[in-house]
Amino acid sequence: MKTSVGIEALAVALPRHTLHLEDLARARGVDPAKYIAGLGVREMAVTDPGEDTVALAATAVRRLIDSNDVDPASIGMLAVGTETGVDHSKPVASYVQGAAGLPRHMRVFDVQHACYGGTAGLMAAIEWIASGVAGGKSAVIVCSDIARYGVKTAGEPTQGAGAVAMLVSSRPELFAIDLGLNGTSSAHVFDFWRPLGRREAVVDGHYSIDCYLEALSGAYRDWRGRAEAKEIVRRAASALPSEQLAAIGYHVPFCKMAKKAHARLRRCDLDDVLGAFDEAREERESATSFERQVAGSLTLCSRVGNIYTGSLYLGFAGMLNAGAAALVGKRIGLFSYGSGCASEFFSGVVGKNAAEQIQRAHLDEVIGSRERVTVEEYERLMALQPDAPPDIPPAPGAFRFTGVKDHRREYAAG
Ligand code: CAA
Repeated sequence: MKTSVGIEALAVALPRHTLHLEDLARARGVDPAKYIAGLGVREMAVTDPGEDTVALAATAVRRLIDSNDVDPASIGMLAVGTETGVDHSKPVASYVQGAAGLPRHMRVFDVQHACYGGTAGLMAAIEWIASGVAGGKSAVIVCSDIARYGVKTAGEPTQGAGAVAMLVSSRPELFAIDLGLNGTSSAHVFDFWRPLGRREAVVDGHYSIDCYLEALSGAYRDWRGRAEAKEIVRRAASALPSEQLAAIGYHVPFCKMAKKAHARLRRCDLDDVLGAFDEAREERESATSFERQVAGSLTLCSRVGNIYTGSLYLGFAGMLNAGAAALVGKRIGLFSYGSGCASEFFSGVVGKNAAEQIQRAHLDEVIGSRERVTVEEYERLMALQPDAPPDIPPAPGAFRFTGVKDHRREYAAG
């Protein structure tokens, strides 16, 4: 019997505030075109200290459970991918288990590997279910992060925050993964990291782009070799292997990165299939190819910014929200990258009910209900102490961090 496993449903939680990049550019004396066209980012999510990684994760999980009538007793695994946790020892997943009222008999853990942590959790869940060990139970995988480089740094316009929660099961209504095709590429590099005690990441920005592209080439070629062996794609000059995917979602630290990634992916195909890079062909075809395969996945990311572990999955959510009907039954590719670095290229087929199923996430409402803040307000929020959140009641259905008592973090539910 062929096992079908993948993402059944998803939900997204975002901070209440959003900063428009044209406002930030003007305040920094930068041409707005650099941020909007050069980096491809229109808005970035801004947190206040009540909207920490736990609060965002718990809000996303609660939405996932409520919108999909999930029976908590059917969940046997909860994994949170995060690189901006709140404790050196106690995992974010443990807080989320308590907040969401999940059962006692389950596997609960965090995964840390920069932006790749969520994918590591997702693959652990998928393989756990596919192996039969899950015994019919589902998993909840949450990616939750606050991307913070600091005021007036080069990384400032590439910040953001948010959480994506995914229900993983043997009813993959959104995405059934191609088991065993995952291509990987990892290496020990210092492109981006955050030493203990620092709130802001340390990043070698341009080198990090090179590391991402190098990892993409390796992971994609690894996936392509496996996909060719199973005759899922074939080498043909008329339709390159990557063109045989209906859409491709990339990890999106900023939207222009997806454009660079797509150009690199095509270059891998053009080099390997044609034996040489055909510049004239790429000149003719690249814009159409990007529009057809990638643009849909940037619809939400361009309005949220980088959310680290969740960026790929926010892109996936945006892709389905923008055009699931056209993708039903078609194969798509996804590329996850975490600095340091680890990466994975994987593929799967969009479920037949994906268009109806993605509506349950109410993504237009989640993104449209945020409040635009001024640069002055953003700077004030950035300067607040992390453990002293403003006294604001949580919105209905949301969680907020309320403070620390006896070294214990406390949360309120709306
Ligand atoms: N009009 C239009 N475009 C303009 C412009 C203008 N007036 N001025 C500049 N640009 C373009 C530039 O040509 C450039 O585009 P290309 O890369 O296509 O040439 C783009 O705007 C950005 O310009 P710079 O490269 O000069 O920007 P910068 O040096 O100030 O910083 C950055 C860019 C390195 C991405 C920086 O924001 C950064 O360090 N960000 C954080 C690191 C990051 O996101 N790395 C991504 C890979 S690592 C990863 O993916 C993991 C993760 O999530 C962190």
